[in-house]
Amino acid sequence: MKRAQTVTLILLVLMAAAPSQSGAAGKGDPKAGKAKYDLLCSSCHGTTGKGDGPAAAALNPKPRSLADVQYMKGLTDDHLFKVIKDGGPAVGKSPLMAPWGGQLKDPEIWDVVAYIRTLGK
Ligand code: HEC
Repeated sequence: MKRAQTVTLILLVLMAAAPSQSGAAGKGDPKAGKAKYDLLCSSCHGTTGKGDGPAAAALNPKPRSLADVQYMKGLTDDHLFKVIKDGGPAVGKSPLMAPWGGQLKDPEIWDVVAYIRTLGK
């Protein structure tokens, strides 16, 4: 095999082995999302996402555990985006989950989606 071919082959193998970005990870920045989450969401959903924030005790229904990987797997990124932007009722859930579209721009919502995908992992 010629040297150039070998190099090409190695590059292809490396590219295939690189972790592929999927879903929200490609759209949002989880680090920026964490700052927003801690500020706006943790009072109810808890700093680790388990639904145990200080305000949660008074709520019925309780805020979702965003760290429940099994449950979260069933929700698409678009669903998460929608419930954060437009609130619980937009996806048939409680109005206690408020709409955040007035406070977060779309790219910031994707950052939060990317961050909550890291919870529970
Ligand atoms: C005032 C308390 C409160 C705050 C603040 C809050 N939530 Fe919620 N959230 C809830 C409650 C209550 C539910 C459960 C609604 C239900 O199951 O009907 C919920 C549900 C959710 C769900 C699950 C939706 C589903 O389909 O099961 C997601 C995702 C979510 N919240 C994200 C967020 C994010 C991100 C923020 C911050 C931008 C946030 N929440 C702020 C109370 C809150």
